[in-house]
Amino acid sequence: MEPFAFQVLARSGRARVGRLHTPHGPVETPLFMPVGTQGSVKGLLPKDLREIGSQVLLANTYHLLLRPGPERVRALGGLHGFAGWRGPWLTDSAGFQVMSLGHLRRIDEEGVVFQSHLDGSLIRLTPERSIAIQEALGADFIMAFDECPPYPSSPEYLKASLERTLRWLERSLKAKTRSDQALFGIAQGGTDPGLRALSTRETLRFDLPGYALGGLAVGESKEEMFPMVALSTEILPEGKPRYLMGVGHPEDLVAAMGLGVDLFDSVYPTRTGRFGSALTPEGRINLKNARFLEDPRPLEEGCDCYACQTYSRAYLAHLVRAGEMLGGILLSLHNLRHLHRLTEGARAAIRRGAYGAFARAFAERRFGRAV
Ligand code: GUN
Ligand code: ZN
Repeated sequence: MEPFAFQVLARSGRARVGRLHTPHGPVETPLFMPVGTQGSVKGLLPKDLREIGSQVLLANTYHLLLRPGPERVRALGGLHGFAGWRGPWLTDSAGFQVMSLGHLRRIDEEGVVFQSHLDGSLIRLTPERSIAIQEALGADFIMAFDECPPYPSSPEYLKASLERTLRWLERSLKAKTRSDQALFGIAQGGTDPGLRALSTRETLRFDLPGYALGGLAVGESKEEMFPMVALSTEILPEGKPRYLMGVGHPEDLVAAMGLGVDLFDSVYPTRTGRFGSALTPEGRINLKNARFLEDPRPLEEGCDCYACQTYSRAYLAHLVRAGEMLGGILLSLHNLRHLHRLTEGARAAIRRGAYGAFARAFAERRFGRAV
């Protein structure tokens, strides 16, 4: 199969199972992609990630631009050679991280000027520079340089911003020189249905290998977010992967997979793990809670991860209280495995034509009732 071909293998309602081909092997969707901001999924070895079912890792252009710099990564074999994960990578374009982390100084037609959060130096990013950096980093999937407007933003601002993001997409495409990387466009439009549809339709005109839903999960309610997801997947073509950026709560994955989303990423499972919390089918548990100090059960009954196979909640609660780094490592490992098992279960249900029943069973355990 040619790289970046996407085959829909099975459908159940609007949910689908797909196979996405990359220069580093095929991956199966729906898929959750662990975030390795600095080229490292915090605390986890590539071989552990492989074992728990990770297929694609995400790294951030913004962070790697500041440190160690794209040319050093290129010289050391790109992310695949430098960072030890030989499977597919995806890099985000930095637009989003500049807004959330950098001290934004100016945004204009040309690009953005921001102050590094590390040393305060002034850095200019443009679509052309973002693509050049992402080519040096060498990920399989690269993202167009976009603006993710803050929530809430006025319709006037959202419209001007999404139009600029479209012009930046055109410049991102023109700047691209490598044929072994797939560039995804990012639709914006906030939570305004008309603008979201406009942005999605206009992004589609570029006939890209994949499409991302951006500007969501930035503070709006779920009642505002999911209609945007639903209208986007209605507009997007069946034969291309759809990526909902920054979404990683299990219940949001279940809802979005049901609407036909294929790819997800979020720091949530690893960050909440480092902070001492574990994902379970009944919801998130905080191991700092005293009730876990004598609990002999695994984090999650039936989980096949190393943490659940080896340790009790009591031991993990002890590690978290003692501030031992192994606590965060084991909880991150479990939380990622939890999300991978969720998408694996979803794929199996879609193949059986039973995604609706899968989603209902999930909700019954998670919320104690069918929704
Ligand atoms: N990550 C989460 N949301 C976004 C977005 O809107 N744009 C980009 N580039 N990255 C994101
Ligand atoms: Zn586990």
